[in-house]
Amino acid sequence: MSFNIEEVELEGDLLTLSTLKPGTRGKVTRIVAQGGKSMFTWGLCSDIYHDIIECLTAALEARDPYSKEHSSRVADMAYDLGRRLGLRGKELEKVHIAAHLHDIGKIGVPDQILQKPGKLLPHEWAAIRRHPEIGYNILSRSRRLEDIALLVLYHHERWDGKGYPKGLKGEAIPLGARIIGLCDAIDAMTSDRPYRPALSWRQCWEEVEANKALQFDAVVVEAAEALWPVWEKRWSSRKGA
Ligand SMILES: [Fe+2]
Ligand SMILES: [Fe+2]
Repeated sequence: MSFNIEEVELEGDLLTLSTLKPGTRGKVTRIVAQGGKSMFTWGLCSDIYHDIIECLTAALEARDPYSKEHSSRVADMAYDLGRRLGLRGKELEKVHIAAHLHDIGKIGVPDQILQKPGKLLPHEWAAIRRHPEIGYNILSRSRRLEDIALLVLYHHERWDGKGYPKGLKGEAIPLGARIIGLCDAIDAMTSDRPYRPALSWRQCWEEVEANKALQFDAVVVEAAEALWPVWEKRWSSRKGA
């Protein structure tokens, strides 16, 4: 006997077909056998996958107070920007999740360096700059997170090739990593840091424009310009912006 397998939305009457509770997240797969008889299976993996991502992010936030909310804002911004650039479905979801996890590798950077208020010494900078590779090593333990691990690895690359860890240039940097790189920089600039106060959204835009085609992909910057009023309205009233 042959089967067609398709994924269907989890809503409405479908819930009466199984023991699922309304509001449960995940995917229901409809298996249609020859002759048209349908049965439904429930994929719990999706739910566990999202929960594990939230746990990993919470682990980093517990470790580094600055990371609290930073990852969520970068993830929201990356979602908007990815959508604006035409990403949809799984591709957009990967960018969003990678943005949530982009700094997960900071778990492997010593506290005295991560939370040092003053200027960092060269060897301390070197330790911080290892976080994309540490993040990649953590996430690439799961084959399912392979693409996300690569976006995390490349989130500090620069369009002009002067970034790290590999010094990739231009379109050799995956689009998702170029998106996350810009959103990360925007959130860092509009947040108070121990060594400087937050820039206004206006000042931040001037910095981003000045670094177009140097640090950032010009196409990604142009897409960000259209979203700027929305982001400014959403976040400019928060403490530290
Ligand atoms: Fe980072
Ligand atoms: Fe970051």
